Amino acid sequence: MERSQGPSHATLAGRLAAGGTADVAGAARVLAGRMVADLLGLPADGPDGAFRELFAAGERLARLALGTTASTGLDPAVVARARSVVADITAGVPHAYRTAGPGTLLGRCRELDLGLPLARGLATLLVIAGTETGASGTVRTVALLHDTGRQRALLDDPSLLEGAVREGLRVATPAPLIGRHVNRDATVGGRRLRAGERVLLLTYRATNGAGPFDLDREYVPETRQLWFGGGRHLCLGAAVARTQVARMLATLLSDGRPYRVVSRRAARGVLVPAYAELAVRLA
Ligand code: HEM
Repeated sequence: MERSQGPSHATLAGRLAAGGTADVAGAARVLAGRMVADLLGLPADGPDGAFRELFAAGERLARLALGTTASTGLDPAVVARARSVVADITAGVPHAYRTAGPGTLLGRCRELDLGLPLARGLATLLVIAGTETGASGTVRTVALLHDTGRQRALLDDPSLLEGAVREGLRVATPAPLIGRHVNRDATVGGRRLRAGERVLLLTYRATNGAGPFDLDREYVPETRQLWFGGGRHLCLGAAVARTQVARMLATLLSDGRPYRVVSRRAARGVLVPAYAELAVRLA
């Protein structure tokens, strides 16, 4: 985390301490791009533009997926467009598959001899699963902490940070629904589900029943951290995501003063509900 993100956080903290305004949403998109690149063993340093572009390519792919939800068939033209986005996203993968260190995902893929097509697929999955979700969860937690007026409590008692992150992710639930295919007939909550049907799990409803963001709320066992899914597809990036959110809160509060949101704008036409912009400055 520090290797790929430390310098960006230092820049952000410095700008705020000097009285400047920072767009947390823009910063989180770049940080998410850097984090995924670093995990994969692709170059994760260099100017922000490349990582903003990686994030945007993930958004383009997700937007294509969003347009296909009304049907179980896939239009070949959409598949062709998706292939071209995937080619952009994975342009650096063949080189990294050969050279990346054993501490990276692509290095591990090589050591396991998984082959380039699977490695490309994994890289694409990571960009799709790990960028929009993490950035949205981070920025919405920053906004929730501000809007509920609890920054002072967190500044006075840093042990509340873990709860702030958990509550932010619970209330934001960046993956608000999860799709599943029914494998065999079953009865759930009195309803008969038949093999072959599709179901949508409304994670947002499941996690938000506990109530609004509350910095002092203990973990609610009934939510079962469903914001990270559950079972065999449980989020592989949960620990990374929690660290990302915690690190952003720590950076924004590192000067010992609360931040103030000076403007905000919702993102439109995106798969994961998010802020397009969340500008903050220190109070
Ligand atoms: C706040 C941020 C995040 C949230 C809310 C989130 C949520 C989820 C959810 C709900 C699933 C399960 C989807 C399903 O069951 O169909 C999932 C799967 C996954 N997530 Fe995350 N995720 C986040 C961040 C990340 C990050 C940062 C990474 C990678 C670094 C990541 C990698 C993955 C992968 C690879 C899977 C697929 C696991 C599988 O299918 O076995 N996620 N995530």
